[in-house]
Formats: sequence, structure tokens, C-alpha cells
Amino acid sequence: MNSLLLAANTAGYAAPPLWRVLTKTGYFIGLAGAIGTAVTYATTVRPALRSAADDGDAAALRTRSALHIACAGVVLLIAGYFQLAGRVARSGKGMPFGDALAPGRIGDYLGAPAAKGAWIAQGAVHLVQNVVLAATAAAMIALFAPAVRRHLDRIALAVLPLSLAVTLTAAVPTTAPADLDRWFDLVLDQIHIVSGTVWLGGLALLVSLAGARGRLGDGAGLLWADIWRRFSLVAMTCVGAVALSGLWLTWKHVGTVSQLWTTGYGIALLVKAALVLGLVAAGAVNQFWLMPRIARARRADAAAPLLHLTLRHFPAVVWGEVVLGVGVLVVLPFLAGSARSEAGSAKAVCSGSVFAAGAALALALGVSLYATAKASDALSRRPSPAAVAV
Ligand code: HEM
Repeated sequence: MNSLLLAANTAGYAAPPLWRVLTKTGYFIGLAGAIGTAVTYATTVRPALRSAADDGDAAALRTRSALHIACAGVVLLIAGYFQLAGRVARSGKGMPFGDALAPGRIGDYLGAPAAKGAWIAQGAVHLVQNVVLAATAAAMIALFAPAVRRHLDRIALAVLPLSLAVTLTAAVPTTAPADLDRWFDLVLDQIHIVSGTVWLGGLALLVSLAGARGRLGDGAGLLWADIWRRFSLVAMTCVGAVALSGLWLTWKHVGTVSQLWTTGYGIALLVKAALVLGLVAAGAVNQFWLMPRIARARRADAAAPLLHLTLRHFPAVVWGEVVLGVGVLVVLPFLAGSARSEAGSAKAVCSGSVFAAGAALALALGVSLYATAKASDALSRRPSPAAVAV
């Protein structure tokens, strides 16, 4: 990534130090593991397991879900600590990251008084955020204990609002936002983070659960057909939300199209967009190739092809999506500064025409996602060729 940025004339661009890359990427991986897992368990896995025909399969996937959530809790706790140390290092001018790891330094930062004109100290906001983060991680980690797993559903449903609160509390502004524009920034940034982490965290949970296929019965294809169908709706909603909020963030930071390849920020964003396009392309394979075949195998009552499609083909594609998704989170810290300031172009100012363009984009995105779902449905209803091809 650094060599790519050095290739272009990005004089005004400052690549992030390694500790910044690791702490920011780690934090969003931790957040995806918490928010994405909790939302996907509540909207996709739990409802599918409740209507599962085979109790043995449901029990095996519940155990696996509990262990996945518990492991994600450990990642969240560690990533949270390093992200907090990263905040401390950035607040102390030139403080070595190693020093910022010291509990004393972190205590000083969290207890620092409010800045002039602020209604609350930034340290206090991050104190609340990290107390919520620790509570969320503790609830998740408790699922390592077999006795606690009986309460999997209740714990998973409690982790959902808690994990959302981890990112929402961090966004609390210490001074009142100056104008509507600033409010849009705050809200759309959080929509971006939540929809992105639900999408990636959900993919990671499902590919981890599919890894339990060795412990599932021959009839598990039906259960998994239901799981993939439910998640495709969640994923499509996330694609729409992350694209729309991403376009707002892009407009805020990129003034002209050419800044995408003439600034360090722009190049990082191009790399990110390419990775996201890969994710969307994989999603299209699921919608237009795999889902119709799964629906046809289901209608033909073809258990073996159904099992192969849902527990071999689908997870293979989703593994690819998870790798691309981690790539997106690794590129994130390189979105440092702004292409506008690098290129010396004016700040983005909101206007009626910008809102109108945003509304038109939202409509176009909504229509295209609806058309995607309808097309996938139509392909599923198409009469199956002689034998269900897998
Ligand atoms: C899988 C899809 C995506 C994920 C998981 C994702 C995730 C994120 C996250 C976590 C942030 C950091 C927000 C922060 O620090 O406050 C971010 C920033 C950003 N994202 Fe995305 N994003 C995705 C797709 C997109 C797309 C499609 C676009 C453009 C259309 C986009 C444009 C941006 C921009 C411009 C920023 C930087 C904002 C800044 O400099 O503060 N993202 N993204």
C-alpha cells in the first residue's frame, strides 16, 4: 500500500504509522465481530434454528454460535484496549505508542478535563465507550462456560444493543454540531460503520458456522438454504446503506474525480472501492447463481445437491468475501486526512442540489436492490433442467 502511495505525487499525504494501521483495523474487526455477529444471530441464525427440522443440527449450530460469539468477545476486548491506547498516543503530541499502553497514561487521558467550550471531556466520552465495550466483551466471553450457553439467545440479544452502543457512544460530539452538515456527518458515518460491520461480521459468523458441517445431518441443506436466504436480505440492506453513506463520505473528502488518483487519500479510496466491488460481485454470484440453484434443489427435494450447494459452494464464495472484507478494513487507516485538503480544493458545502442528488441516488440504489431480489426470485422459480446441476 505504501509503495502504491509513494508512486503517485502525494506530497500532502501522510501514511499512517504501523501502530495506527493495526489499532484501527483491529478495532473495526473487533466491532464487526460484535455488531455483525449479534445482528446476524438475531435476524438470521436464531429464527432459522427455531424452525429447524433436526434438533441435533440446531444444537450443533447453537454450540458453534456460542463459541464464535465468545471468541469475538476476546477479540473485541483486546482490540478495544489497543484502540484506546491509540487514542491516547494521538492525543499526546509525539507520544510513543508503547508509552500510551501504560494504564497510568490511559487513566490520565480518560480523566483529562473538558476542552474550552465543550459540554463534556473527550476522555469522559471514551471512558463511557470503553466501559460499554468491556461489558459487551464480558457478556460475549461468558459463553465459553457451558453452563452459560443455555442462555445463548438472551445473551446474544443483549449483546446487540450493547455492541451498537460501543460505536454510537464514541460518536457523541463534545461540542454542539455547528450546522446540519455536521449532523449528517455524524449520522451517516455511524450508518456506514454499522452497515459495514454487520455485513462483514455476518459473513464471518456464517462461514464459521458452516465449518460445523461435519457434525450436521444429511438434511441440513434445508436449514442452510433458509439461513442463506435470510442473510441475503440483511446483506442487501447493508450494501445499500454502506454505498449511500460511503458516497456521502466520499463527497466530503474528495473534491474532483481526478483526486482519486492524484492524491494519497484518493488512491487508498480507489483500492477500497475495488475490494468492495469484489464483495458485491461475489454477492451477485450468490444471488444470481447459487440461490436459484438452491431453490430448485429444494423444490426437487434433492438433499445431496442441496447439502453440496449450501455447505460447500456457498461457504467457499463467502470465504472469499471475508478475505476481501478484511482487506477493506486494512485499507481503512490509509484514508488519512482528506483528498480535498491534499489537493488544496475547497471544503464540501451542503446545498439543496446535494440533497436532491443524494435522494436520487438513494432511490436508484433502492430500485436496483429491489430489482436484484426480484431477478433472483424469478431465476429460482424457473423450471429446473432435467437433473439439478451442482
Ligand atoms: C464492505 C464495505 C465497507 C465497509 C466495511 C466500510 C467501512 C468503513 C469504516 C469502518 C470507516 C471508518 C469510519 C470512521 O473512522 O469513522 C469507513 C470510512 C470511509 N468509507 Fe467505508 N466501508 C465500506 C464501503 C465503502 C464504500 C462503498 C465507500 C464509497 C462509496 C466508502 C467510503 C468511505 C470513506 C470516504 C471513508 C472515510 C471517511 C473519513 O475519512 O473519515 N466505504 N468505511
